[in-house]
Amino acid sequence: MNLVRAIYPGSFDPLTNGHLDLIERGSKIFEELVVAILRNSEKDPLFTLEERRDMLEQMVRKYGNVRVDTFDGLLVEYAMRQNAKAVLRGIRAISDYEFELQMALMNRKLQPQLETVFMMPAEAYSYLSSRLVKEVFRLGGSVRGLVPELVEQRLTEKVHGISAKEK
Ligand code: PNS
Repeated sequence: MNLVRAIYPGSFDPLTNGHLDLIERGSKIFEELVVAILRNSEKDPLFTLEERRDMLEQMVRKYGNVRVDTFDGLLVEYAMRQNAKAVLRGIRAISDYEFELQMALMNRKLQPQLETVFMMPAEAYSYLSSRLVKEVFRLGGSVRGLVPELVEQRLTEKVHGISAKEK
């Protein structure tokens, strides 16, 4: 039997319901899904790596075949070390396609044995991104329904410096 382990890589700063939607879809297709957080992103993250990992771990606990890990360096090399055959990426709109195609083809050039699989999140999340969540939240807008409750609490603590209970 051809068991496929896939890597779902990203920054997850923070995890959104769009990411979770994709994780759920991926967990149904692949035998094992490794959600891999990039360690040394050039972006200046809002949440530390440990905070992001903690949130993800809590949210994927319910799936028996999903685990969380971190990685550094080339994605294709990490994927090979993990014995993964596929990389999972989400495509929300046509605008994502160009960059995702570029990455997928570069990764294929670097490692032809690794396939990139694209999945579409539910259309309700098609406009959602971690960047917009951070921006809207910082400016006082509501992100309810766009991120898990846990992430909303952590955003409150991080951005407003108070725990959700004190609010
Ligand atoms: O959530 P993001 O920021 O869209 O994820 C981007 C990510 C982590 C998938 C991408 O930056 C990546 O794979 N980085 C690892 C370094 C690498 O392999 N670069 C070459 C990609 S073609």
